[in-house]
Amino acid sequence: MRILSGIQPSGELHIGNYLGAIKNWIKLQNDSKNECWFFVADYHSITENYDPKEKPKEILDLTADLLSLGLDPEKSVIFQQSQIPGHTDLTWIFNTITPLGELERMTQYKDKAASQKQNINVGLFDYPVLMAADILIYKSEAVPVGEDQVQHLELTRETARRFNDRFGKVFPEPKPLLTETPRIMSLIDPTKKMSKSGGEKSYIAISDSPETIQEKIKTAVSDTGGGKDKRGGYNLLEIFNAFAETKEEKSDYSNYKRYHEEGTLKYAEFKPALANLIANYFADYRKKRAELSGNPDYVKKVLADGAQKASAVAAKTLQEVKQKLGLII
Ligand code: AMP
Ligand code: TRP
Repeated sequence: MRILSGIQPSGELHIGNYLGAIKNWIKLQNDSKNECWFFVADYHSITENYDPKEKPKEILDLTADLLSLGLDPEKSVIFQQSQIPGHTDLTWIFNTITPLGELERMTQYKDKAASQKQNINVGLFDYPVLMAADILIYKSEAVPVGEDQVQHLELTRETARRFNDRFGKVFPEPKPLLTETPRIMSLIDPTKKMSKSGGEKSYIAISDSPETIQEKIKTAVSDTGGGKDKRGGYNLLEIFNAFAETKEEKSDYSNYKRYHEEGTLKYAEFKPALANLIANYFADYRKKRAELSGNPDYVKKVLADGAQKASAVAAKTLQEVKQKLGLII
C-alpha cells in the first residue's frame, strides 16, 4: 500500500501528534508491504502567523525529531513540501474543480479564521486543496492522521472522484488511517483537543524533560465537579494506556482504570506514575535527538535525497494530469 502523511513545522511536537499520527507512521514504515512517504508541510505552515527567521530551524528541528522518533530514510521517502513544485501546480488544477461551498464548510478553516482574524488569507482557505494535491500527486492510498484531519481526507476523496469522473481515471480514493488514540485532549481543558495553541501547560512536548513532564501532569485537570465530570481522568488514563508497553505497565493500567470507575483512584499515585511512563518512553528519542542536534548537514541531506525521489514521481503524475486536461500541445 502507498502511504503518505505530512506535518507542519510550527513549534514543538506534542504527545497528541505522536499518539494520533507519528506512532502510526513508524509502525506502517516498518511493515515491508508498505511504501511510505512522509513530508514536512512548510507551505501549509505559512498560512498561519509566523516569523520567517525561525522557519528554517523549525523545518530542520521537525525533521530531526521525526528521524529521532524512528522514521528511517532507508525505508521511507522523507522530504520538504516546498521543494517539490508539483504540489502547488496540482493545487491550482484542483482549485478549478473545487466548489467554494465545500471549502467554506471545513471546520479547521472556520476555527483558524476565528483565531487569526487579522490574517484570514486565501491560503488558509485553500489549505485543504493543497492537502489533496500533496496526497494525490503520489497516488497515495492511505493517510495516517489524527481525527482532526478526517474532514480534509473526505475532501481529498471527493476531489479524486470529481477529477476521475470528468477527465478519466488517474487517482485512487485515499482513506484515513487512525490510531486507537486519534484525539488526545488538552491537559488543562479536557473538552478541547491537545494543541500548541492551548499554551504550554496544555500539552506535553516530546522533548520535555522528565521534571517538566512531572510538573505538567501534576497540574493536569482530572475529575471535576466532585468527581461527576470524569473527562480529564479518562484522557489521562487513555494516555497511560497508549504508552503502556510491558505486561506490568498494562496491568497497572487495568488497575488504575478500575479504581477510576469505582471512584477510588488516587491521583497522588497515578499522576507521578503516568509522568514516569511518558518520560521513560521518550528517553531513547532524547538521546538520538541530542546526537542529531550537532549534525544539521545530515538532516539536510535526508531532505535533499527525499526531494529527488519525490520530484520524479510528482512530475510523472503532473504530466499525466496535464495530458488529461488538454494542456499538452
Ligand atoms: P499538526 O501539528 O496540526 O500538523 O498535526 C500533525 C498530526 O498530528 C496530524 O495528523 C493531526 O491530526 C495529529 N494531531 C494533532 N493534534 C492531535 C491530538 N490532540 N490528538 C491526536 N492527534 C493529533
Ligand atoms: N494538514 C495536516 C495537519 O495539519 C498536515 C498535512 C498537510 C497533511 N498535507 C498533508 C497530512 C497530507 C496528511 C496528508 O496535520
